[in-house]
Amino acid sequence: MTASDTRAELTNDLVFPPGFTFGAATAAYQIEGAVDVDGRGPSIWDTFSHTPGRTFQGHTGDVAVEHYTRYPEDVALMADLGLSAYRFSVAWSRVLPAGAGRVEQRGLDFYDRLVDELLGRGIDPWLTLYHWDLPQALQDRGGWTDRSTAARFADYASVVHRALGDRVRHWSTLNEPMCSALLGHMSGQHAPGERNAVAAARATHHLLLGHGLATRVLRDQGADHLGITLNFTPMTPATDRPEDVDAARRLDGQQNRMFLEPVVNGAYPADVVADLAAAGAPPPIEDGDLEVIAAPLDWLGVNYYFESTVRVGRRPADQPTSFIGGEDVVELDPEGPTTTMGWGISPETFTRLLLWLDERAPGLPLVVTENGSAWPDEVSADGGVHDPERTDYLLRHLAAVRRAMEGGADVRGYFAWSLLDNYEWARGYAQRFGLVHVDYATQQRTLKDSARVYAELLRRHRQAS
Ligand code: NOJ
Repeated sequence: MTASDTRAELTNDLVFPPGFTFGAATAAYQIEGAVDVDGRGPSIWDTFSHTPGRTFQGHTGDVAVEHYTRYPEDVALMADLGLSAYRFSVAWSRVLPAGAGRVEQRGLDFYDRLVDELLGRGIDPWLTLYHWDLPQALQDRGGWTDRSTAARFADYASVVHRALGDRVRHWSTLNEPMCSALLGHMSGQHAPGERNAVAAARATHHLLLGHGLATRVLRDQGADHLGITLNFTPMTPATDRPEDVDAARRLDGQQNRMFLEPVVNGAYPADVVADLAAAGAPPPIEDGDLEVIAAPLDWLGVNYYFESTVRVGRRPADQPTSFIGGEDVVELDPEGPTTTMGWGISPETFTRLLLWLDERAPGLPLVVTENGSAWPDEVSADGGVHDPERTDYLLRHLAAVRRAMEGGADVRGYFAWSLLDNYEWARGYAQRFGLVHVDYATQQRTLKDSARVYAELLRRHRQAS
């Protein structure tokens, strides 16, 4: 797509209703750096990333993009882009270095300054309480596999809300609990790096319980724009053979429905609970838990990147699986172009997903809290960063959101992942998702072409609103 096609497409397909929120997203450990500053305690990601062999070339978030000190510059960039909102996460171990007990005021002060800086620029802060960085002290007591962590999470939510609730309106409890539970405890690709089906099922339930308890506390403290962010990977069977259809059902159940259904309907999907029990890993549900988990929400955050095609088959023994009891299930390589993450590109599936969610959660507004793509970006001789693939991905996915809205889905906002290139977890700094390029040697920020296109779209949106 050339730049002029892009502009043409902007005027045609991409007009959003007044009041639609356009933002960009980040997460604490991926951008902040400053891991031993102002009393911050260690988190499971410090431990994991410093364990040899766990991350790409041993990359850690120690420095990241120095957002902890450079936040005024980064907020100025957001203002230049014309973002109306910014989604970020709070690092639990900055606020409560041991996960519970003593509050570290200097940690809270950082978020206080960030929020004031955002508001001063007219940018609405959307705060996520948990984006994967559990305090190590809680991990030492079992982490999410232990029921008490859910209660500690609600205590932490209360502390942060008391400090920032006068200025932050939009609150999200968890980001992608599926990844915390299954990548963290089943495939071991993420912190804490466990490979244990029982632990993964326990973590799944306790994360959701923590969400419910925190939602209740925040509501009691007066919060009225409460949500959770879930990720969805739509699953298609490779053929219509019953065993492939069932493989897709099982994987979809465990990764998508297991998190959505209890939150919006107060019940785990019975087929998934049966699959987990058959795998010897039943979720440790106690009386009343599901009512807690189903605490009413004001919006549902949706993260979407790619779809998956599934069939039964032998998985290579050296390939970790995040799927409990899914040793016989294989995900096919995507067809067509892939991003540097190896992910396929399917905007049509995004439209279908949003329409499906609207049906599954009637009356609950949807917000796209993440969507984006990684490409091999470089600063060119002319000083620019030319990323036509990201621009194309962005516009096609925005058009997909628009189509879902035309089909009746109640979508209220879109946050691009990510504002800045950053620490892509186990994949390190090799994967660049930013609208803004970061030179990791100098910390120099450079707007990519995609950022300029997004800014132009937002400018037109503001004018029309
Ligand atoms: C999901 C996660 O929330 C975010 O932290 C990650 O960087 C992106 N997807 C891209 O993988």
